[in-house]
Amino acid sequence: MRVLLTGAAGSIGRVVTAGLSDRGHEVTGLDLAPAPVDHDGPWHVADCTDPAETAAVVAEARPDGVVHLAGNPDEADLAGSLASHALTTAALLDAMVGQGVRRMVYASSNHAVGWTPRSELVGTDTRPRPDTFYGVAKVAAEALLSLYADRHGLDVVSCRIGSFLDRPETTRHLSTWLSPADCVRMVEAGLTAPAPGYAVLYGISRNTRAWWDLAPGRALGYEPQDDAEDWADRVETRPEDEVEGSVVGGPFAGARFHRPAF
Ligand SMILES: NC(=O)c1ccc[n+]([C@@H]2O[C@H](COP(=O)([O-])OP(=O)(O)OC[C@H]3O[C@@H](n4cnc5c(N)ncnc54)[C@H](O)[C@@H]3O)[C@@H](O)[C@H]2O)c1
Repeated sequence: MRVLLTGAAGSIGRVVTAGLSDRGHEVTGLDLAPAPVDHDGPWHVADCTDPAETAAVVAEARPDGVVHLAGNPDEADLAGSLASHALTTAALLDAMVGQGVRRMVYASSNHAVGWTPRSELVGTDTRPRPDTFYGVAKVAAEALLSLYADRHGLDVVSCRIGSFLDRPETTRHLSTWLSPADCVRMVEAGLTAPAPGYAVLYGISRNTRAWWDLAPGRALGYEPQDDAEDWADRVETRPEDEVEGSVVGGPFAGARFHRPAF
């Protein structure tokens, strides 16, 4: 497939660009930053909050699908979060409709449901329950994906990613880890699942201690292979572990992130 990948210079973007290319996809990168030195292929320096710049890149790349990873992965003020996640998503969706591009895989986040108590396996039908303005912006981005899927018949897969890391580092990560190899599997499944319409999956590995239901992802062809449990004896317990395990968003739900919207 021809894929336009936003946020291609980021930590997830570099791994997914290489992984999709290895699997035979033709990847065009887009980022605010220039191409990493080891990048091989087309690249656009552009800001996805700018609808005109975004439309020009989509028109030139003419992709079969868009993988939208561009955005600030941390908490910020409300306006900044909405620009980074909701406005970028809207600019891409408008550009896709304009060019007849019908597929998007989106990097949403567990923080869209971060204030959900850690009691039972959380499904994709749980109510939006953001833990931060970052989470609010991911909920808004998911709402836009749903709107454009219904209005324009697009196929969009929103991946609520847990913790993308080379290896789990805390007790929480033993539940939330997404390995680099599984991340590539997840994105490829989202790009190739037959006619998903609007679909949501949880972007985690097949962790023994998982808090999120992998069944919706498996229904789309996402079969994770790694398990954080393999690292459990190398993860040290910490006093924060109990609080971090009380709601699925972990530290993002903590008082450190409580702040006014303006
Ligand atoms: N890393 C995780 O564990 C995790 C978990 C859940 C969700 N996510 C989401 O995955 C996506 C990628 O995260 P990451 O960890 O690779 O972050 P990152 O900061 O490493 O990479 C993000 C990239 O996006 C680019 N970018 C930001 N705003 C842009 C814009 N307006 N236009 C063009 N490019 C822009 C940045 O330059 C950067 O290269 C984000 O949307 C993040 O919210 C990440």
